[in-house]
Amino acid sequence: MREIFTQVTYLVASILFILGLRSLTKPDTARRGMQYAAIGMLLAIIGTLVQHEIVRYDWIIGGLIAGTIIGIPLGTQVPMTAMPQRIAISHMFGALAATLVGIAEYWLHGAELGSAKMAAVGFEVLFGALTITGSFMAFGKLQEIITGRAVTYKGQNAVNITLFGVTLLMFGYLIVHPENAVVFYSMIALALMIGVFMVLPIGGADMPVVISLLNSYAGLASAATGFAIGNNVLIIAGALDGASGFILSIVMSKAMNRSFQNVIFGAFGAAPTVSTKTASGLSVRSISAEDAAIQLAYAKLVIIVPGYGMAVAQAQHQVRELAELIEKKGGEVKYAIHPVAGRMPGHMNVLLAEANVPYDRLYDMDEINGEFERADVALIIGANDVVNPAARNDKSSPIYGMPILNADKAQNVIVLKRSMNPGFAGIENELFYNDKTSLLFGDAKASLSKLVTEMKTV
Ligand code: TAP
Repeated sequence: MREIFTQVTYLVASILFILGLRSLTKPDTARRGMQYAAIGMLLAIIGTLVQHEIVRYDWIIGGLIAGTIIGIPLGTQVPMTAMPQRIAISHMFGALAATLVGIAEYWLHGAELGSAKMAAVGFEVLFGALTITGSFMAFGKLQEIITGRAVTYKGQNAVNITLFGVTLLMFGYLIVHPENAVVFYSMIALALMIGVFMVLPIGGADMPVVISLLNSYAGLASAATGFAIGNNVLIIAGALDGASGFILSIVMSKAMNRSFQNVIFGAFGAAPTVSTKTASGLSVRSISAEDAAIQLAYAKLVIIVPGYGMAVAQAQHQVRELAELIEKKGGEVKYAIHPVAGRMPGHMNVLLAEANVPYDRLYDMDEINGEFERADVALIIGANDVVNPAARNDKSSPIYGMPILNADKAQNVIVLKRSMNPGFAGIENELFYNDKTSLLFGDAKASLSKLVTEMKTV
């Protein structure tokens, strides 16, 4: 009876995980998706807790209390801009759990595991261990505990590949000789080292791609755990996690027009790279909040392009306020969302949703790009690389080929930024020197507040 209850809860949990993932594909259903997944996780825990193999509950209750104490502040206190490192540390915990389950299985059964189960346990601890240290490194880089710069040295890729090769050989050996505990624990030690060495040469700003890749490794490790201990919901949830993390990494790499190898081995973002086309000798036109407000008040269509700077300034609420004022004056407002605007997938969508911007005003790059030509103003708020025309025209640019938002096609362009500093890619943006572009210098939140005040008097 208990077994049937467990399997039914696992089945329902798995369906909820799939529905949850599906709902996460749209901003208006994303919140519901998270709720489906949370209920699924609760059911999976309940289904596991009633199993007759459990002989005592004290350690489990202790774990639940510890997890709750850590989880609640993680969920409620961490600001949106720190979300990438929060996700990294969650993956670390997930991978730690999978690795410890694998070690416990080996400790209990050792040589009796047989080759097939040893393959599952070996895979679990190998990918689990490298995800633990890899995620911790990603967390450290983003939290600036360790340098966010790409740390490189000569022969680094060769060292990493050799290390990985040796670890794989050990894994293969263990499948044939599961009794060799020295090789088992040495393989874990090497996998822990791989996590460190693999992430060291990757720049802090590329961490989101690394994190979603590690997410997929943690998922695969969990699926392997499911095989090792005969747990169906772990196999399904792990496979979903593994596949979605991998797809997300590919989507992000594509949106940046970078190959996977370039992200992992390219040491991108190490030092500012300068395109051959620099803007020396050109001058920019700055604009006052008063004049910018006049342009916005008389515009029929304003397309807002949010970027990383909006997230840093936490200016999303002021953006919504300004948009409402433009609409009051009779203008239409649309938001153009580039897939890698900000520093993590969906960064802009989440922030704008937090400020209650209606979802139907958010447009993906492909939907909105044709509309810039008829926009009276493209209002760029802390975005840079995602509107850089060099991606279209300058073959020598590191972002050449990256799809961009066609903000330069609008009748007028107003850019909110603090200085002439470049964005993530470290390159000049010729759009800022265009005749139809004006720059409103200052922190985005402060500039938007000024615009809101001025709009009320126009
Ligand atoms: P960026 O190109 O990084 O530009 C950000 C702009 O915001 C800069 O021009 C900066 O100029 C300005 N800024 C910073 N703080 C500000 C503040 N407080 N107030 C006003 N402006 C501020 O951002 P983007 O256009 O969003 O492009 C994202 C970049 O990140 C792309 O290169 C992308 O490939 C990369 N990336 C994204 C992801 C994901 S998944 N989103 C993952 C990895 C890498 P000032 O300093 O002069 O103010």
